[in-house]
Amino acid sequence: MPESFIRLRHVSRRYEAASGGEGGGAVAALDDVSLELAADEFTAITGPSGCGKSTLLHLLAGLDRPTAGEIFVGDLALHSAGEDALTSYRRKDLGIVFQFFNLLPTMSVEENVCLPLLLAGQPLAGARSRADELLDLVGLGARRGHFVHQLSGGEMQRTAIARALVHRPRLLLADEPTGNLDSAGAARVLEVFRAVAAQALAALVIVTHSEEVAGAAKRRVRMRDGRVEATGQ
Ligand SMILES: Nc1ncnc2c1ncn2[C@@H]1O[C@H](COP(=O)(O)OP(=O)(O)OP(=O)(O)O)[C@@H](O)[C@H]1O
Ligand SMILES: [Mg+2]
Repeated sequence: MPESFIRLRHVSRRYEAASGGEGGGAVAALDDVSLELAADEFTAITGPSGCGKSTLLHLLAGLDRPTAGEIFVGDLALHSAGEDALTSYRRKDLGIVFQFFNLLPTMSVEENVCLPLLLAGQPLAGARSRADELLDLVGLGARRGHFVHQLSGGEMQRTAIARALVHRPRLLLADEPTGNLDSAGAARVLEVFRAVAAQALAALVIVTHSEEVAGAAKRRVRMRDGRVEATGQ
């Protein structure tokens, strides 16, 4: 059997007690998590507040390192990679979508989506045509010239998803991407994630409190107290 795209082996992330503070005991944000995810998978991570979902996503993003255990994404060992390798991983292989969209409000929708390609040194014409492809995918082709501050929250999030995919990452991570949206906006965002999964544009790992989002995933990972409580289809 081929190796899974993402492999976590006995991963823990402990935060030591704050020195001198009261009630500041050590916290095991993740406690011996082992998990494998395939490259064509749409995975939803669910569980109560504080169970370690964002911690897990930060580790997968190479923004933080485990205090014990191993994490591989493809061939890259995130637990031991040097800073240069992690920077290159984040730039080339990864897209991230947050609850609060982190777009540049005074730039147009198209400029926001182009920006990662321009920063990577790609010519403007190619960056714009690639951005427009993604804006069509997320249903915002007609809004490409609008300023971000003229969009609804759901439209902002779809712009953020287009931006996260523009450089063809292998892995798209999202932390509560519908957490700040009304139900109509959330439904449109979910449609976009379904399209990303159906077209196998990237492996998708989404942390969510939404039953609709979790229900759309092919794989569901339920966490509790820093551990994986259950996984299922
Ligand atoms: N920098 C930190 N220092 C100490 N403890 C931390 C730190 N970051 C997170 N934690 C603790 O680790 C645990 C897991 O946090 P995490 O943010 O991963 O939870 P979560 O599942 O994403 O919760 P939510 O659904 O509320 O976003 C929590 O108990 C949290 O207080
Ligand atoms: Mg969180």
